[in-house]
Amino acid sequence: MYDFAIEAEDKVELYRQLNAAAAALTEGEPDPIANMANVAALLWESVPDLNWAGFYRAIGKELVLGPFQGRPACIRIPFGQGVCGAAAASMEPQCVDDVHAFPGHIACDVASASELVVPIVDAGGLIAVLDLDSPRPGRFDKDDVAGCVELARLLAPRLRPVVNPPAEG
Ligand code: SME
Repeated sequence: MYDFAIEAEDKVELYRQLNAAAAALTEGEPDPIANMANVAALLWESVPDLNWAGFYRAIGKELVLGPFQGRPACIRIPFGQGVCGAAAASMEPQCVDDVHAFPGHIACDVASASELVVPIVDAGGLIAVLDLDSPRPGRFDKDDVAGCVELARLLAPRLRPVVNPPAEG
């Protein structure tokens, strides 16, 4: 059983504890789906005021839904579309105070008001994006961006796609 009791007075401390827990949870585990699943659960449990937390994986020129917590979401997002697609195309974090004012925003949950999407980049390019949604407008600020950029940096080598060995026989 994992029990990470994250209690922080401010966001900088929250992300320090969260990122230490994410590093410990994914240490030595090569399976990217298992790691994304555990980190999505950790974010959901630890970061206040979210209605969605999870990952989209970069496959070809599309983002494909990965492990998450929250309501069922759209499955495929072409690069360049919506907030996630903008993060994938630009490889830059997207911090959106009002998703309804963002051109091409994809509404997976009508409750979402603000959104933070951070690309996860490895030497080989874009692996995935981390997506956080909140029902509160302007929920995310520079501390959330910095904390999630650091999370993406530490996760990148632990989210590399696994190539199955050929079956024997
Ligand atoms: N709102 C996102 C789509 C993904 S959901 O929020 C889970 C976007 O515009 O890319």
